[in-house]
Amino acid sequence: MTETAATTVSAEQTGREQALTEKVLASFERTPDARLRQLMQSLTRHVHEFVREVRLTEEEWNTAIEFLTAVGHITDEKRQEFILLSDVLGASMQTILVNNPADGDATEATVFGPFFVEDAPEIPLGGDISGGAPGQPCWVEGTVVDTEGAPVPGARIEVWEADEDGFYDVQYTDDRVAGRAHLFADERGRFRFWGLTPTPYPIPHDGPVGQMLAATDRSPVRAAHLHFMVTAEHCRTLVTHIFVEGDPQIEIGDSVFGVQDSLIKRFEQQPAGTPTPDGRDLAGRTWARTRFDVVLAPAA
Ligand code: BEZ
Ligand code: FE
Repeated sequence: MTETAATTVSAEQTGREQALTEKVLASFERTPDARLRQLMQSLTRHVHEFVREVRLTEEEWNTAIEFLTAVGHITDEKRQEFILLSDVLGASMQTILVNNPADGDATEATVFGPFFVEDAPEIPLGGDISGGAPGQPCWVEGTVVDTEGAPVPGARIEVWEADEDGFYDVQYTDDRVAGRAHLFADERGRFRFWGLTPTPYPIPHDGPVGQMLAATDRSPVRAAHLHFMVTAEHCRTLVTHIFVEGDPQIEIGDSVFGVQDSLIKRFEQQPAGTPTPDGRDLAGRTWARTRFDVVLAPAA
């Protein structure tokens, strides 16, 4: 596709285009629900502005319709290509930013992703979430406090992650439950568990969203991460991840724009034979350790 030269639009043509936009805006004027009216009119303004700014050709409009049709066709109960599209356009992350405003030193939120599962097994403090999933053992510890610095005893902590081959348990066909669990912070807000050192993995890219990434020379790979969801009474629910300091994918770019500097943590590699914090015998394997201190904003 070649870039088109800047198009000069006559005053008469501009008037016709603006008149159409006004007509469509007016068609929504009687919408009884004020919020729906605002959404539809703003959407109209932005879509019309886009079409006019890029001087969209009819062929490009057709390509866009075919693309959205393909996104719909590949979507089913297991595969949500529309959410993936929203993710790679940064629309999911922008919605998260808008809905999780900065509040003191509250931990930043990031994308939820499609691989959370309700009712993951409960583990005790110091337990292991891996469920036999392959990967380097990683000791994760931290505290949960509120924005006043007070511990949040009993905060519920959900954690989930891909194995070292880059797959979540739900991507296998054998109903395994692995790489996910929930636990509760102790009376001082402290938590600790064994997980796996996260590794980078690609988002599903065998569909139209993958084709769009390839056509725009973008990587489908997500920076290595460990998902958290932390809930507690009177606190805003936090959905976030931690990322691995030094992961080259952070520089290349996370495919869904989930990385925030404050969420990049040091994962300290431990040589084989280094004693573990809880005395666990890792049979001569290397392991890693990291710390994630969570600050929950007050509920709205
Ligand atoms: C994930 O982190 O698991 C994820 C997030 C967005 C799209 C695909 C995967
Ligand atoms: Fe993930």
